[in-house]
Amino acid sequence: MKKTISLFKNAKQNNEKITMLTAYDYSTARLEEESGVDAILVGDSLGMVVLGYENTLSVTMEDMIHHSAAVARGAKNTFVVTDLPFMSYQTSVYDAVKNAGRLVKEGLADAVKLEGGVKFAEHICAISDASIPVMGHIGMTPQSVNAFGGFKVQGKSIEDAKRVIADAKAVEEAGAFAVVMECVPSALTAYISKLLTIPVIGIGAGADCDGQVLVYQDMLGMYSDFTPKFAKKFAEAGEVMKNGFKSYFEEVKSGVFPSAEHAFKIDEEVMKKITEE
Ligand code: KIV
Repeated sequence: MKKTISLFKNAKQNNEKITMLTAYDYSTARLEEESGVDAILVGDSLGMVVLGYENTLSVTMEDMIHHSAAVARGAKNTFVVTDLPFMSYQTSVYDAVKNAGRLVKEGLADAVKLEGGVKFAEHICAISDASIPVMGHIGMTPQSVNAFGGFKVQGKSIEDAKRVIADAKAVEEAGAFAVVMECVPSALTAYISKLLTIPVIGIGAGADCDGQVLVYQDMLGMYSDFTPKFAKKFAEAGEVMKNGFKSYFEEVKSGVFPSAEHAFKIDEEVMKKITEE
């Protein structure tokens, strides 16, 4: 059975935690679905963990569409949320709706996510009015890295905490079905989670959220350029991969691989005729 937007509402009502992970390709999406994830985020973090950029700002609509469609093909029964990349919605409400539509039509997304609160309430409202579910994203919003002066925790001062609360309320009132809260002090997130009727999905926002999201390369130990404080390693897949690569190299160099088991046979008579010609 396909997981739908209802799971977010039901989970909040029943006080059940929502699990979300990023994915950017077919085979990872399939593995996540087989593991029972509630929803997949095709995050623009793909710019960093897949494409090797320093931040998410260079990611294009074409990048997002390409990876979103691959994920949707791999996780047919999972709810897929895809990020609107930098400058695909900030420019106008019209661009926001048009590009959200592209993520659904071409990227096969079930919903879209965009960064920003009060300033982007109108955009969220217009996309929702076009029957495209929107997930908000507030707190530390990576597309604003230059405005923030780095990847910094948000909402620590009274003024800043009030700003995060106003953003959360604005996103809910605009019609978002859920909101990601990134790098916000745990007590503030707990307060906001109680205040909102939509689920709050935390990343670096403490335990008292309605769900959690992580970048899968961070939680599997596959991305060493930068490890955020909140990214617990649940496995050392990077080490497993490196060991697998090394064993392959050793077996190729020593002639152990490929053995007969991994090769194809030909009739001896055929070979005889060929070599005799
Ligand atoms: O792009 C992304 O992966 C995200 C998560 C960090 C929430 O937005």
